[in-house]
Amino acid sequence: MYTFEIIVGTTLGSAEYVADHLAEKLIEQGFQVNIHLDPKLESLPIDSKHPWIICTATHGAGDYPDNIAPFALQLQQSSPDLTRIQYSVIALGSKSYDQFCNAGHMIDRQLAKLNAKRVTKTFEICTLETPIPEDAIDGWYPQWLNNWL
Ligand SMILES: Cc1cc2nc3c(=O)[nH]c(=O)nc-3n(C[C@H](O)[C@H](O)[C@H](O)COP(=O)(O)O)c2cc1C
Repeated sequence: MYTFEIIVGTTLGSAEYVADHLAEKLIEQGFQVNIHLDPKLESLPIDSKHPWIICTATHGAGDYPDNIAPFALQLQQSSPDLTRIQYSVIALGSKSYDQFCNAGHMIDRQLAKLNAKRVTKTFEICTLETPIPEDAIDGWYPQWLNNWL
C-alpha cells in the first residue's frame, strides 16, 4: 500500500484545498498521506512506496509560489537520483495569464530530468473555468487512481 507525499505550492490557499480534498479521497481508499506545505528534500522519502504528488499553483509571471520555490531550488542544486520515485503533477493556474500552469510544468520537467517516473500527464486546473478547483479533482481522480490499485 502506498503512502502519498503531497507537495503543495500555494500563495492564496487554493492548491492547499485541492491537496486536502485529494488526501481525503486517498485516505478513504485506505492509503496513507503526508501533506508538505513547507517541502524540503530531507523530509521526503525517496522510495517507490512513497509516490510524490506535486500540487502547485503558478504565481508572479509563470513562477513558483514562495513556499515551494526553495524545494525546486534544492532539486536543482542537489540533483538527487529519483529513479525510485513515481510522481504526478496537479497544476493550478489561470488561462488569463500568458504562462498558464508554468510552475507545474517546470517541476514536471525537473523531476523527469532527475529520472523520476511520471504517472499520467500533468493535470491542469484553470481557476477561471473551475472557480472551486477541488471540484476538478472529482472527475480526474477515478481514472488516475487506477494507476495505484
Ligand atoms: C499575482 C498572481 C500571478 C499569477 N500568475 C499566474 C501565471 O503566471 N500563470 C498562471 O497560470 N496562473 C497565474 N495566477 C493564477 C493562480 O495560479 C491561480 O489563481 C491559483 O488558483 C492560485 O492558487 P493558490 O490559491 O494556491 O495560490 C496568478 C495569480 C496571481 C494572484
